[in-house]
Amino acid sequence: MISYELNDQTAIVTGGGQGIGLAIAARLVASGARVCLWDINPDVLASAQAKLGEAASVMTVDIADCDAAAAAAAATAEAHGRIDILVHSAGIAGKNAPLDEYDPAEWRRVIDIDLNGAFYVNRAVVPFMKARNYGRIVNIASIAGKEGNPNASAYAAAKGGLIAMTKALGKELAKYDIAVNTITPATAKTRILDELKPEFIDYMLGKIPRGRFLEVEEAASMVGWLVSRENSFTTGSVFDLSGGRATY
Ligand SMILES: NC(=O)c1ccc[n+]([C@@H]2O[C@H](COP(=O)([O-])OP(=O)(O)OC[C@H]3O[C@@H](n4cnc5c(N)ncnc54)[C@H](O)[C@@H]3O)[C@@H](O)[C@H]2O)c1
Repeated sequence: MISYELNDQTAIVTGGGQGIGLAIAARLVASGARVCLWDINPDVLASAQAKLGEAASVMTVDIADCDAAAAAAAATAEAHGRIDILVHSAGIAGKNAPLDEYDPAEWRRVIDIDLNGAFYVNRAVVPFMKARNYGRIVNIASIAGKEGNPNASAYAAAKGGLIAMTKALGKELAKYDIAVNTITPATAKTRILDELKPEFIDYMLGKIPRGRFLEVEEAASMVGWLVSRENSFTTGSVFDLSGGRATY
């Protein structure tokens, strides 16, 4: 495993209690970073803390609450004196249904967490990075945000919006030593799939030319470089992690 030098750096990983976020957090800890896990679920935070040990701290945060995200960023900066890295992984899949039958309340729930929440988290953390002229941000989007998946329009719309937000923010911050990028994974077998219909999961697997699910450690590997000092030029970009699915 390649290790990037992250000694003395502070990283926030939202949705870090499990799944892709937890795998990324483990990789950052192995590279020397202090990692603050933000998640809405205290149970998964407790087991993640036990797994990662004293290099990790945890905070129960609902990222769909703008004030809570701002308070969590301030508390993290206060505790560690700096925020070098943000990996925004918190998210939900939402229910599967055709768009003309999609429940408006469910649509708003998905947009509130997957798009508005991403805005709140990035908005809260960026000032601490600007103040030190250093930062590396990775927003976890989805291949659904580029290609769309039938019966998951709210998720596709939120992730498409997150890709566009990342590109805009990357350009805004390009004059600083701050990189803002996004990754677009295909399907990985994590708890997020629990909300989805089995036939929908089969559809997504069938779209992956590699013929298998993404492993969460493969996502962590890509993010490891993106959040390192070695990523000194690339910003506002989209990195596919789709096993060949992406067509552009
Ligand atoms: N697993 C996949 O197939 C897949 C594919 C593409 C993109 N993604 C994206 O990767 C990210 C991580 O997904 P995962 O597969 O690890 O899922 P996961 O369900 O294992 O982890 C997501 C975490 O986000 C947390 N979370 C949900 N809502 C939250 C909120 N309001 N505030 C704070 N935390 C909240 C959950 O408690 C959970 O711990 C998500 O943004 C997801 O959309 C996943």
